[in-house]
Amino acid sequence: MSVHKNVKRVTTHTLQEMKDANEKISMLTSYDYSLAKIVDAAGIDIILVGDSASNVMAGHETTLPITLDQMIYHGSSVVRAIQRCLVVVDLPFGSYQGNSRAALDASIRIMKESGAHAVKLEGGAEIKDSITRILTAGIPVMGHLGLTPQSIYKFGTYTVRAKEEAEAAKLLEDAKMLEEIGCFAIVLEKIPAQLAKRVADSVTIPVIGIGAGADVDGQVLVLHDMLGITSEFSPRFLRRYANLYDEIKGAVAQYIDDVRRVDFPNDKEQY
Ligand code: KIV
Repeated sequence: MSVHKNVKRVTTHTLQEMKDANEKISMLTSYDYSLAKIVDAAGIDIILVGDSASNVMAGHETTLPITLDQMIYHGSSVVRAIQRCLVVVDLPFGSYQGNSRAALDASIRIMKESGAHAVKLEGGAEIKDSITRILTAGIPVMGHLGLTPQSIYKFGTYTVRAKEEAEAAKLLEDAKMLEEIGCFAIVLEKIPAQLAKRVADSVTIPVIGIGAGADVDGQVLVLHDMLGITSEFSPRFLRRYANLYDEIKGAVAQYIDDVRRVDFPNDKEQY
């Protein structure tokens, strides 16, 4: 019997059951009430309130500028919209790298003020203390390895990570450590598909990929990218399921034309 079809609310336990039953997990980002409502109604398993909000909602070049208050605003908007899925909120850059106390305080604020169900952090051994402390408060943690956009100025580029054996070995070690200390899932971003499969086979918790091939336990995409709202970003891993940039632009152009021709409003559209 299918796990995901039989749950009214997705929890971290549901996701573990899905991995154990070999059922793929679906995850998308959302940042606002209206789109989150549609994404949840369509049956998504996890909504990630990603710090990619910094790019797609606020127009920043990187994920670094978004603040904890802004993440809480986006998180609470999404939580008000959903009925079924699990909501995970990203801890923003600077809120957890300094020390474990700051990481715990930031996570508690996210859980209390947004109503989210879990938090996500980028990194492995370097942030082990922070993750451990957050977990002691009973807050579920999702890890994130591979391309970690909050470290873009260390990497220098957004190219595929862990192609070399040394980096791949560290990533595998980090994944095992995240499982051991109690993370409920791990996101792997932009790494070779073979390595992602090795990780998914080596840990018992769900592994969710973005640009990490098909042999993992689930997939995540940025909503605005897969809907074709953003048009300038086209990595190889991105499949576009709609072209909303052209749809929205066409609708707005039609509205402008109707207003100029005094075609809108018509007799039926007034009081
Ligand atoms: O912020 C985000 O959208 C993410 C996904 C790319 C996994 O972290």
